[in-house]
Amino acid sequence: MSARDEPRPDREPTDASHPVARVRLEPMSEEDYAKSVKRSISRYAAELVQRGLSTKEGSLEVSRQDFERFLPQGLKTPGHHLCNLLEITRNVRVGETWYTVQGRGGKPHFWIDWIWIDAKHRRHGYASQTLRLLEERARQLGADRTGLSVWMDNPGAVALYSKLGYVATNMRMTKLLDRAVEGGPR
Ligand SMILES: CC(C)(COP(=O)(O)OP(=O)(O)OC[C@H]1O[C@@H](n2cnc3c(N)ncnc32)[C@H](O)[C@@H]1OP(=O)(O)O)[C@@H](O)C(=O)NCCC(=O)NCCS
Repeated sequence: MSARDEPRPDREPTDASHPVARVRLEPMSEEDYAKSVKRSISRYAAELVQRGLSTKEGSLEVSRQDFERFLPQGLKTPGHHLCNLLEITRNVRVGETWYTVQGRGGKPHFWIDWIWIDAKHRRHGYASQTLRLLEERARQLGADRTGLSVWMDNPGAVALYSKLGYVATNMRMTKLLDRAVEGGPR
């Protein structure tokens, strides 16, 4: 591969390239990041409990450990971008997003880790707009697709992604086990 063909995951395209943007992405400051991670750790802990993946007592610690693993250098973790979503005309924060750009196998790999729209701003099209902006960024970086992962028990998010053309490419399956039956293996 020539240097010209190398993916450029470090390049930051601008949002101005999108003709209908009503939101823009603003990289988080360290202060924003500290607040955002704090909120995310407690939300993620609650999700772990809700999905039966942790006890209530252990959930905060698991959540903290997972965030340290995902973002070992915080905001400076290479390839990871954490942004506030600002409504363009009023400059009001409506949510946040986190995406990752990595060069793998000679191709830029663009992954949307997280999108959150604050409750009072939902169903105004901000998530759809954000996803389109992210897709535009991915295109500008030379990626031919964007990916994300979603829990099937989040129908709003599943509906959003499906509406925008995302299709399932793999599936994690779970089986809830009955408690041990008498006479069964120990
Ligand atoms: C999921 C989420 C990001 C959607 O944000 P949003 O800005 O409200 O989404 P949009 O307004 O762009 O919605 C576009 C379409 O997605 C679908 N959709 C969005 N939220 C929905 C919901 N709660 N129930 C059903 N469909 C929904 C609808 O088809 C909607 O179009 P419509 O409003 O014309 O019916 C937002 O609800 C959120 O932040 N939830 C909590 C965090 C989360 O679950 N993030 C996703 C993790 S994978």
